[in-house]
Amino acid sequence: MRRSLIVGNWKLHCTVVEAIALANSIRLAVGDPGSREVVIAPPFTAIYAVRGVICGTPIGLAAQDAHWEERGAFTGAVSPGLLHDVGCRYAILGHSERREHFAETDAAVARKLRAALAAGLSPILCVGERTAERDQGRAQTVVSRQLATALAGVAPETLPMVAIAYEPVWAIGTGIAAGTDDAAAMADHIRGRLAAGWGDAAGRARILYGGSVNPGNAGDFLRQDTLDGALVGGASLNADSFAAIVKAAP
Ligand code: PGA
Repeated sequence: MRRSLIVGNWKLHCTVVEAIALANSIRLAVGDPGSREVVIAPPFTAIYAVRGVICGTPIGLAAQDAHWEERGAFTGAVSPGLLHDVGCRYAILGHSERREHFAETDAAVARKLRAALAAGLSPILCVGERTAERDQGRAQTVVSRQLATALAGVAPETLPMVAIAYEPVWAIGTGIAAGTDDAAAMADHIRGRLAAGWGDAAGRARILYGGSVNPGNAGDFLRQDTLDGALVGGASLNADSFAAIVKAAP
């Protein structure tokens, strides 16, 4: 009942020309994704150009971040409304690279999430523990805190707009993916937290896994009943790899 969602996060890669070429290759390689939802997140500067390439196809657009204010004196920020205007329907929020390199706090992620929802964007909320936190047995505690802060005040009828991406920090860009059992166990934990706070609506929110997903391991994650998709970084920069991941989803 939950459609598979595969998101390609291009991070800080691709000039406009490169982005157009990659989006076009992805469009051709993915073809008809059937019931799966496929979304790509180019850098801000390429979003408008990529929109032209995927317009009229089943591929959707995400922003890699969004500010919490809609307009005003916020030099360098991009608001959810402007992203919606340029064709985005999703926004990746709270990615661990934002938390790590841009000092983004849980409270900031919460403001962004509410602003994104208000502008009609579906947030892809990233949560996940660092190595030390896992080693100390605190992975679930950390993820619970990130969820509780980011989702505070979200109404039950709105919760299904949010996809949660479980991305253990140590698995991102390292080639060392989480074990599928560990990822499934954390997805269960996340679903449990959502159910405790939002009741039945929890069953309609999608939970993704992210962190070194590639064509070789994607099927292992995507076959887990508790996982509804993947957030893909490095492997989304290659059209054939990304398409293979899409096709591994049910
Ligand atoms: P990766 O990145 O697939 O390159 O590990 C995932 C992410 O950062 O979302």
